[in-house]
Amino acid sequence: MPHLLGLIREDVANVMEHDPAAKSRLEVFLCYSGLHAVWFYRINHWMWNHRLSLMARWWSQVARWLTGIEIHPAAKIGRRLFIDHGMGVVIGETAIVGDDVTLYQGVTLGGTGKEQGKRHPTLEDNVVVGGGAKILGNLTVGKNSRIGAGSVVLRNVPEQSTVVGVPGHIVFREGKRVVITDPKQINDPLSEALAAVATEVSRLRERVQQLEGSVPEPVPERLQQIMEDMDYQI
Ligand SMILES: CC(C)(COP(=O)(O)OP(=O)(O)OC[C@H]1O[C@@H](n2cnc3c(N)ncnc32)[C@H](O)[C@@H]1OP(=O)(O)O)[C@@H](O)C(=O)NCCC(=O)NCCS
Repeated sequence: MPHLLGLIREDVANVMEHDPAAKSRLEVFLCYSGLHAVWFYRINHWMWNHRLSLMARWWSQVARWLTGIEIHPAAKIGRRLFIDHGMGVVIGETAIVGDDVTLYQGVTLGGTGKEQGKRHPTLEDNVVVGGGAKILGNLTVGKNSRIGAGSVVLRNVPEQSTVVGVPGHIVFREGKRVVITDPKQINDPLSEALAAVATEVSRLRERVQQLEGSVPEPVPERLQQIMEDMDYQI
């Protein structure tokens, strides 16, 4: 609590640094309801931890009426959380959010309705969650990962990855495209089809070479390049 003013200053500076739409500190202080919701949360979290749970819940509802953002006071939130635009964001009771996380409007860090105890996600540092994305259940999104707008994430996301779609699947990891080849991991039917076609082409190449009795031709440079740029680990 004594640090609240310092945290407010830090949040405003963070928005000034990262949002090209922000024109002045005063504008950020007055007009960014995502920050207002986080500041309410800081006070509510303090109350929650000091046995004022009903009061904390009540003020979190007041904050929701004012900002359109619902953050449960028991959630654990790191520094410089930036909720951009904000309306419709929900952060559940057992959610954990690291430092320097950005959430856009309509993001839910929610439960699946099937779990008890820790049932909301953990977002590590520097995660960005696009508008309308739903991250559901006790899963972890690794640091520096990005969740595409409108995705529904139901599994752990490794660090430095980009996840898109419903259900969410990894399209990039550590700067490389990901092709999903393990059928158990398949959330992406296109990857399954591509993996099957690639296997068939490889089989046909071998067969043609056997029939012709020729020395194997090298894989064309373009195809080689594509294979090198792919991450086939998942
Ligand atoms: C997911 C995201 C971070 C990816 O950005 P990126 O790393 O630059 O990746 P790309 O744009 O190159 O997209 C990679 C692939 O994922 C697809 N993709 C990107 N975002 C997607 C989404 N939200 N849903 C489904 N597919 C998506 C792209 O079509 C592309 O596929 P392709 O190469 O087969 O055409 C970005 O698209 C996104 O959704 N950002 C959220 C922004 C937001 O919510 N803004 C709200 C402002 S108010």
